Amino acid sequence: MALRFEVLGRFNRARAARLTLPHFECQTPLFMPVGTQGTIKGLTTNQLEDIGCQIILGNTYHLALRPTSELIDELGGLHKFMNWPRALLTDSGGFQMVSLLHLADITEKGVTFQSPVDGKPMLLTPEESIQIQNRIGADIIMALDDVVKTTITGPRIEEAMYRTLRWIDRCIAAHKRPHDQNLFGIVQGGLDPVLRDICVRGLVDRNLPGYAIGGLAGGEDKDSFWRVVAQCTAALPEDKPRYVMGVGYPLDIVVCSALGADMYDCVYPTRTARFGTALVPEGVLKLKHNAMAKDTRPIDPSCACMVCKNYTRAYIHSLVTKDAMGSQLLSYHNLYYMMQLSRNLHSSIVEGKFPEFVCNFLQKMFPKGD
Ligand code: GUN
Ligand code: ZN
Repeated sequence: MALRFEVLGRFNRARAARLTLPHFECQTPLFMPVGTQGTIKGLTTNQLEDIGCQIILGNTYHLALRPTSELIDELGGLHKFMNWPRALLTDSGGFQMVSLLHLADITEKGVTFQSPVDGKPMLLTPEESIQIQNRIGADIIMALDDVVKTTITGPRIEEAMYRTLRWIDRCIAAHKRPHDQNLFGIVQGGLDPVLRDICVRGLVDRNLPGYAIGGLAGGEDKDSFWRVVAQCTAALPEDKPRYVMGVGYPLDIVVCSALGADMYDCVYPTRTARFGTALVPEGVLKLKHNAMAKDTRPIDPSCACMVCKNYTRAYIHSLVTKDAMGSQLLSYHNLYYMMQLSRNLHSSIVEGKFPEFVCNFLQKMFPKGD
């Protein structure tokens, strides 16, 4: 196992931990920005360090197509290639293909899809996904899973869960770097508690270094989403990190942390920045809005980030959709907001002040109690 997970504090089911990975010592709960092509759009790795990012996410599928995992390997791995000294996580590729390419087809062998480069059918097997991720060299690599939308019903959910369990053994057998890369398994099973339970137990039997909860944040209602997270976190081992994939909004991160989850990733903070939206304690601030044209306040007067210290809402309003600098400044602020949220979750749990933090967070976001 190439990680250490030490719980430093708890409040009911919430925990704050030190997660020591080969390239960085992280504090949980933590949020991982998504850098699809080996970059977080618009930000330098120095800026990401300044913001306090501890671990960033890359996608096997995108990196395998361009610049290719062979080239990354030849040039010394992704950390060196993108000049990122801290931790990295790569997702296995199956989810991206299913979510991005409607032409993807899943069989027992793996995921078949049409190459966007030349249109030829390509097959990504569990073995190949791991081999590619071994070449990329991230601190945490993800098993290839069979992902279905939570909004579908019927036997396909069960098939995907059992296939995910069969594939985990192929992933474990193919993994050549367990000494310096941690393979996480992914719990599937849709919204069915019986299937989720079978999947959790199957993965826990494999004694992996960490576990992810997958197949969520795909359009299901919040109640079902939180119920699945609560069930899985309750059944996963206390001494291993728990990662909720594709989550999320600040509120979801607070709730999932209260339910005992530790790690999150989402494109939301950077994607919404490119559409001119800032994350603030009250919720969101739309910089495109005409009301911003003469507003000389910072995005968030309570934010200590470089953007809020130096620029006005009026200036960012004038850039948004007109110059790349607009989305760069907003991405910087939004990721700072997510890192500050992670730090506040961690320290409030360690200091025994988690309920106060949650109350304060909710009161700012929902001042009228609605
Ligand atoms: N990203 C968001 N959800 C998922 C999931 O269920 N599986 C994988 N591999 N990646 C994800
Ligand atoms: Zn700011």
